[in-house]
Amino acid sequence: MYTQEEISGIVRQYMASLVFPAHPRELFSPIEYSLEEGGKRLRPTLLLMACNLFSEQPREALPAAAAVEIFHNFTLLHDDIMDNAEVRRGKPSVHRRWGTNAAILSGDAMMIYAYTLLEQCDPGLLPALLETFNRMAMEVCEGQQYDMDFEHRESVSEEEYLNMIRLKTSALLAGSARLGALIGGADGESLDKLERFATQLGLAFQLQDDLLDTYGDSQTLGKAIGGDILEGKKTYLMIRALALANATQRTTLLTTSHDESLSAPEKIMRIRALYDRFGIARLTEQAISHHMSLALEALEALRIDKERTAPLKALAQGLMKRNK
Ligand code: IPE
Ligand code: IPE
Ligand code: MG
Ligand code: MG
Ligand code: MG
Repeated sequence: MYTQEEISGIVRQYMASLVFPAHPRELFSPIEYSLEEGGKRLRPTLLLMACNLFSEQPREALPAAAAVEIFHNFTLLHDDIMDNAEVRRGKPSVHRRWGTNAAILSGDAMMIYAYTLLEQCDPGLLPALLETFNRMAMEVCEGQQYDMDFEHRESVSEEEYLNMIRLKTSALLAGSARLGALIGGADGESLDKLERFATQLGLAFQLQDDLLDTYGDSQTLGKAIGGDILEGKKTYLMIRALALANATQRTTLLTTSHDESLSAPEKIMRIRALYDRFGIARLTEQAISHHMSLALEALEALRIDKERTAPLKALAQGLMKRNK
């Protein structure tokens, strides 16, 4: 059994060993750039840890782990176009540096590369792995569409929001955990519990992402602060604020992002002032703790030695304290 540090090291080393063709440069440079060190490598780490719960050979899951990490990075290339995000991991986003067309095509190539890695998996397991991978990938697309749809809606319920982030973010974490467990030879009951763990972890993770987008530090986070406000995203923060606002405040919350008389910093300040007044940061932190508790409960419910689940527990608890 491997420790959290060992699993992280194995993942990092494998990611660094991937080689892409030299030409065409405009296709492959953005891929190398986005796969450089800098990301947290959460999904492949989760995948390997899930595998290691049931198998002493988690390295067998490395191609699948790299596949989910590359798929994740592909979604970020396209997400940054959709969200008009100029900075990622403290560097210009791919579409800022190489242009939108390059970000679209390199993203497409990354998705294909993810499937190429899956070719290396045990042929006997491949149908089940592909079913999981494809369901997960489609759910991410569904979630991304809801995320954009909600920008244009005046009201989004907390339930609709949670369903949207379950799709756009939790699906990839739950899919990663399931892929790792399948490769490790898990039974059906364990697969369900692990998926429940990763789904709740994903909800907590995206809530934290929303919180950091407004209240984080741009240097540490490596992304611009306030992007969600400027895009008119219906984040958890916005949804809770809308529920607490009077009519005037509600108008401010809904119209500030497209008010052409205001500069970007003014827009962010105005919305943040309302969030501060309503204590939104604390409400979001409570929601994060709630979903994290549900995640840990699902992990505890696994019929596996506590010692074996320790790395996953440590991974989850580490995320609670993250600021990037
Ligand atoms: C960013 O994911 C996209 C979300 C689902 C919030 P991460 O925060 O895992 O991004 P990296 O890979 O560590 O940069
Ligand atoms: C990301 O959501 C979900 C994806 C599927 C990429 P966000 O748009 O909030 O992610 P960041 O904040 O840009 O990393
Ligand atoms: Mg984004
Ligand atoms: Mg987005
Ligand atoms: Mg975000």
